[in-house]
Amino acid sequence: MRVHVADHPLITQKLTVLRERTTPSPIFRSLTEELVNLLAYEATRGVRTQPIDIETPVAPMRGLALSEPKPLVVPILRAGLGMLEGMVKLMPTAEVGFLGMVRNEETLQPTTYAERLPDDLSDRQCFVLDPMLATGGSLLAAINYLFDRGAVDVTAICLLAAPEGLAAIEKATQGRDVTIVLGALDDHLNENGYIVPGLGDAGDRLYGTV
Ligand code: PRP
Ligand code: URA
Repeated sequence: MRVHVADHPLITQKLTVLRERTTPSPIFRSLTEELVNLLAYEATRGVRTQPIDIETPVAPMRGLALSEPKPLVVPILRAGLGMLEGMVKLMPTAEVGFLGMVRNEETLQPTTYAERLPDDLSDRQCFVLDPMLATGGSLLAAINYLFDRGAVDVTAICLLAAPEGLAAIEKATQGRDVTIVLGALDDHLNENGYIVPGLGDAGDRLYGTV
């Protein structure tokens, strides 16, 4: 598993505002989108392309197009939905699949309540979006769905992660092509399974339920 932790002052500055408890939902949403734009730059470094011939108004040249089959972008509902728009703006031809998952706040185990993915993901590159990687249970379940359907590689973009969750995913995905791109790697998980210092409940903060 490859892990890339962003190292850029604009990302840290935007995360600082996002983490601040008084930041209201509309600002939280727009910062989430901006952060995805910045993290997607790194996450899509390995996106498959093919050369194409074009003509500029001045001269013919060789350019690049995204290869078929199209990449698949998979937001994990609900909080991952806040990252979708930022990602598809960068890759407007990507296909989008959905996974709805919720973590039981007592057992910390995820359950899947919605799934809308192509049946066959053979040879597809997949990009999973979820702002928070805490115990890693939700992301691991999503990664397993994609590999079970034939995906060749999975890249996850998360705003924050806990070391415990990263270690759990690394252990469970040995031998698979998995990349995780993070805005920041935080300190630890608390006794309630929350990332510390974190930003609280990303879904609640995105959608104004607090
Ligand atoms: C949050 C978050 C992740 C998950 C992370 O979602 O968006 O999906 O928790 O926790 P884990 O790594 O321990 O699995 P939540 O279950 O709160 O649902 P929501 O997006 O609907 O708020
Ligand atoms: N889910 C969140 O939204 N925040 C956390 O810190 C952990 C899980």
